[in-house]
Amino acid sequence: MALHTTSLWVMMIAIIPIALAGPTSHAAFECNQTAALSAADAYVSAQTTGQLDPLQQLLSSNWTYQENNKATDAKTGVLSKALKIDHRRTNLDTTACATYTELIITNAASPYVIGTQIRHGTNMTIASVDSIVSTTNSWIFNANVTLQHLPNTRRRYVVDEAMGSVSIFCLWEHMMMAADSHEFRLEGGKLRYVHTMTVCGGQPCAL
Ligand SMILES: *[C@@H]1O[C@H](CO)[C@@H](O)[C@H](O)[C@H]1NC(C)=O
Ligand SMILES: *[C@@H]1O[C@H](CO)[C@@H](O)[C@H](O)[C@H]1NC(C)=O
Ligand SMILES: *[C@@H]1O[C@H](CO)[C@@H](O)[C@H](O)[C@H]1NC(C)=O
Ligand SMILES: *[C@@H]1O[C@H](CO)[C@@H](O)[C@H](O)[C@H]1NC(C)=O
Repeated sequence: MALHTTSLWVMMIAIIPIALAGPTSHAAFECNQTAALSAADAYVSAQTTGQLDPLQQLLSSNWTYQENNKATDAKTGVLSKALKIDHRRTNLDTTACATYTELIITNAASPYVIGTQIRHGTNMTIASVDSIVSTTNSWIFNANVTLQHLPNTRRRYVVDEAMGSVSIFCLWEHMMMAADSHEFRLEGGKLRYVHTMTVCGGQPCAL
């Protein structure tokens, strides 16, 4: 299982100021939180059934879908596989009008950890579904190594101010152009946990 839970304050110092200083997208409209959260639920239903149907009416006509930083056909990607989800958690970014959902599938034959950022357009339809999909092939992340290899590029943030959590997706050039997901949560000014996924195109990751 490519899921690593740790507490690493050094990483927090490295990342959080970037997250706070560099908001990538501010929604210039009122974000309907109910609609954003129910879109995340619809996404979870879609993944559970392996069908796009629950999402269909929520998608904008020009919505985009990507997995591990690559544009992907949603009808052939992981979203088309019916998966029994053992754990699901969603954070909401009311500023960017986006959600971050973490899914854990423990099925021994085909385990996954999937992190998904969903962004909404002005009319609350889904503009993009952006997933980091990690399987047993994926590298169990060593946060100490990452620290030495910042910065990385193409960062996408979902900041849940109420939860005090930040989801960051990026391209990690020095790690075989890996797709990388970090999630941080602050509690009482301390880093509570970090979930990370690093996916190196199905290959074992190596620097
Ligand atoms: C927000 O979205 C919900 C669910 O889609 C809808 O029922 C509600 O009317 C919306 N609220 C506003 C203010 O548009
Ligand atoms: C909402 O916006 C999207 C993208 O801009 C567009 O494809 C869709 O038709 C719009 N839906 C409505 C109901 O206006
Ligand atoms: C989709 O259409 C909307 C409205 O026309 C536009 O603002 C948005 O940039 C488009 N998105 C993409 C990915 O082309
Ligand atoms: C990370 O670095 C700290 C401090 O140097 C060390 O105590 C810890 O064992 C390291 N962790 C890993 C996974 O290498």
